[in-house]
Order: sequence, then structure tokens, then C-alpha cells
Amino acid sequence: MQKRYILSLDQGTTSSRAVLFDSLTGQIAGMKSVSLKQIYPQPGWVEHDPSVIYDDQLEAMTGAIEEAAVSPEQIACIGITNQRETVVVWEKSTGKPVYNAIVWQCRRSSDICDNLKISGLVADIKRKTGLVIDAYFSGTKIKWILDNVEGAREKAEKGELLAGTIDSWLVWNLSGGQTHVTDYSNASRTMLYNIKELQWDEDMLRVLDIPECMLPKVVPSSGICAYTKYRTDGSKTDDSLDYKERVVKNILDAGIPVSGMAGDQHAALFGQACFKPGDAKNTYGTGCFILMNTGKTPVESKNNLLTTIAWGIDNEVEYALEGSVFNAGAAIQWLRDELGIIDSAQQSDMMAEQVEDTGGVYVVPAFTGLGAPYWDMYARGTIIGLTRGTNKMHIARATLEAIAYQSRDVLEAMRKDSSMELNMLKVDGGASVSEFLMQFQSDILNIPVLRPVIRETTALGAAYLAGLGVGIWKSREEIADSWNLDTIFRPANNKEHFDALYLKWKNAVERSMKWDL
Ligand code: G3P
Repeated sequence: MQKRYILSLDQGTTSSRAVLFDSLTGQIAGMKSVSLKQIYPQPGWVEHDPSVIYDDQLEAMTGAIEEAAVSPEQIACIGITNQRETVVVWEKSTGKPVYNAIVWQCRRSSDICDNLKISGLVADIKRKTGLVIDAYFSGTKIKWILDNVEGAREKAEKGELLAGTIDSWLVWNLSGGQTHVTDYSNASRTMLYNIKELQWDEDMLRVLDIPECMLPKVVPSSGICAYTKYRTDGSKTDDSLDYKERVVKNILDAGIPVSGMAGDQHAALFGQACFKPGDAKNTYGTGCFILMNTGKTPVESKNNLLTTIAWGIDNEVEYALEGSVFNAGAAIQWLRDELGIIDSAQQSDMMAEQVEDTGGVYVVPAFTGLGAPYWDMYARGTIIGLTRGTNKMHIARATLEAIAYQSRDVLEAMRKDSSMELNMLKVDGGASVSEFLMQFQSDILNIPVLRPVIRETTALGAAYLAGLGVGIWKSREEIADSWNLDTIFRPANNKEHFDALYLKWKNAVERSMKWDL
């Protein structure tokens, strides 16, 4: 039976997806997405239930395989890609999480970050990890769990607990509790990993008081790192499994190799075939994540961007500059779920088109603080410029425009840091379907914006990494040849007008900053 399918598991902030790619045709053979429940225990705190994450991921996996009607034996390999920074701590012996997953957006460790800043560690941490000090990254979240969950620190010190980002959590479970690994790209988001020496950083572990024995082994983003195996907690015999459990067991006991792993934004960079220094992509998901490949040398940002490992392949890592915007698609969801002024995300496009402009209204969606290039944990959302004539169309349009403005903030910083002229931007992710947003993005940046045929770029990137890892593709050139353009958005020739709009945006951002101090 020919092993021609690659299974991508894409565990994101708001959904767990599985996409089955047919490596012969390059097409999607099956796909399923399951929405993930968000838990908000306090303002500014965000959690997920790790067991739900795993169960949802299995449901997505079986759904995609069933849709494609293929057998587990036809699946050549699995690629895993994940929401980054979100962290789980679990018991090695039982697989039971000691606390909910603390999500990347969660601000609960802001105090720990403030203390790191007061201790004068800003430059040191940046040099070693490529990161700015912010509650976004996993290290301070792990510390919070060890400090606040009863008994956790003692157990961790005795080697009884494991900690990892969602890739590690999935691989550990998928491998029947056998393998505790993470890849270079995910490790580079923890604030615990030295991105130049390529090892867990002793100083960071000491400063945050995290025992190294909890942490996963760091492995290449492409290449076999585990094999699937069904895991039971011992309470059930094979005969007592229900139908769904038997289906999962049948798939996992096929021993499928996991041969690709990368944080979702890194996978998207790979899936967009951004293989050359200067190639950049923007993924419009919950947030907006702009990454630019900078090749084999890490570029240290002077403009508040992050230096991150793009991927590690064949024991060599490549780097990227990254600007992370915390709220993008989430702002459209806010229009729908909290303000109730739209019924669906598509409707925001229609509403934006119904007015000529925002009437001077700016929405700064700093719901969970501001990420790059501002890094203000205490910023909060702002609507400014309201007049008696402002209506919901203006607010919808200003929310979409805010996504494009935030992306320009990052790309301006990227131009300065890399001293490379960006002459086009590849785009993907949920909100990239918005014709209005993509056109406005091109106008505000004054460069062409390129949207590919396959929009599941994150899953595609994980599939490419996995396929490369088992020899389905022999080289990146082969992969680049299969990247297909769908639409190109060209800028309106009106730079002055759009620059003036952007200048006012900067004023609006100023007003949202340091609000919740
Ligand atoms: O850094 C967080 C990012 O990886 C989350 O991506 O697409 O799950 O919102 P997404």
C-alpha cells in the first residue's frame, strides 16, 4: 500500500485542526477542525484544558482521515504545528496536567517579568534568547505554575513533572508517553533557550528557578523524532474501548513517524516557501505574525522585534526576525461575539465596504496589551475619534484597518533592522480571505500582497517539514516549485494619503498605552 499521505496536526489558539495532504497531487484529501474552548479565570488571564486540546486534536485527526477514506498504513508521516509559547506541566507517570495550559496571551506573569526588568536583565535576555521580556513567553508561565500549584515545585525537582509547549504535549501523548521533545523553533519561544549556543540556558533556568529535568530534548524541525503509539491510563482493557477510542488506537498503533515539528508561525514561513533571506510572510490568525527569514545569522533587533529560530534542519538552524501582534482576527471575533455588530467574520468586510472611510475613527485592539514593536503589557483597547455620526460600519472598518496598521508598525521596524527593502509580502491565515483587508494592507504598505492557493499554509508547512524528514521531498527547491499564487493585491498609487492615515494611527496607539498600570 503506497504511503502517499501526510497528516498535519495544527493545534491553534482557537481550534485544533487536522489536514491530510496527498503528496502526489499536492491537494488536501481530508480536513477537520474542532473549536477550542477558551477559559478566562480573571481579566487578562487565558487558559486551555490540556486534555481537551489532546482529545480535540484526536477528533480532528480521525475526522480528516475518515473524510479522505484512507487507512493508517497509507500515512507516511505526521507533521505537528502549534500555538507557540502556551505551556503545559504534567505528571510523567500519569500524563495528568497539574494545571490548565497557560496560553500565550495570558498576562498573569507580568509581575515576574517586571522583576526581571528591575534586575537589569533586559539586554542579557535579549542577547541569549532573542526575546524581549514579556509575559508572552513560556518561561515565566512555567515559573508561575511551580510557584502557585501546591506541591508542584517539589515534584518538579524530584523529576516527576514534565513541562512543554503544545508540540511537546501532543508528541508525548501521541507517542504513548514515550517521547519528550520539542523542536528548535518552539524552544526559541520559551525565553529559556539560548538561540546561539543551541541549548537550554543555565542562567535563565536559574533566574526563573526551573529544573532542567522537566524540559524536553530539543530536536530538528524536520526528521523522525517519535512514532505514534496508543496510550491508555491502565484503567481500560482493549475490549472495553468504545468505538471512537478503537478508531484512534487503530491509527496510533500503526506506528506512524512524527517527522516534522514547528511553531505555527515558523511552519507558515516554511509553507510560504520563504527560504531566502528577506522573504517575509504575515499570518492573520488570532494575532498577526510577521516573520522575515534572515538566513544563518541571527539579526539582533534594535527596533523591538524578536530574533527567533525559523527552523532547524540537518543540524543547522536558520533565523528569522519576528513581529507579533497580539490581536488581529481576535478583533473581528470581538466585533461578532462581544459587540454583536456582525453575525459572521465575512460581514465585517461587507460593512467596511459600505462606508468610504472610518470617518476619522481608529480602533486599537490592545485587549491583551500591545506586542511588537511597542511591548506594553499594560496597554488596553481604545476607540478614538468618535463623533455623533459614527456608526457600526465605521467601527467595523476601523477594526479591519487596525490589523493592517499594526502589520505596518512591524514591517517598518523590520525594514530598519534588516536593512532589506521588502518588496512584497506573502499572506495567509483566516483573515487573509478578507479582500478589503488585503487591499488595504497593500495600500498602507505600498507593496504588493501575495495570497497563495492553499491558505492552510501553517498545516502545509508542517507537512513539508514532515515530508522532507522522510524523503518525500528531496529539497526545498522542490517544495518552492509547488507554491502557487492565487491573488496579488497591488497598492493604489496614493502613498501620501495612506501615510497621513498611518500617522494618525500612531497617535491613537499612544493613547492606548500604559492604561492598566
Ligand atoms: O505566538 C502565538 C501564535 O503561535 C498563535 O497562533 O494562529 O494559534 O493564533 P494562532
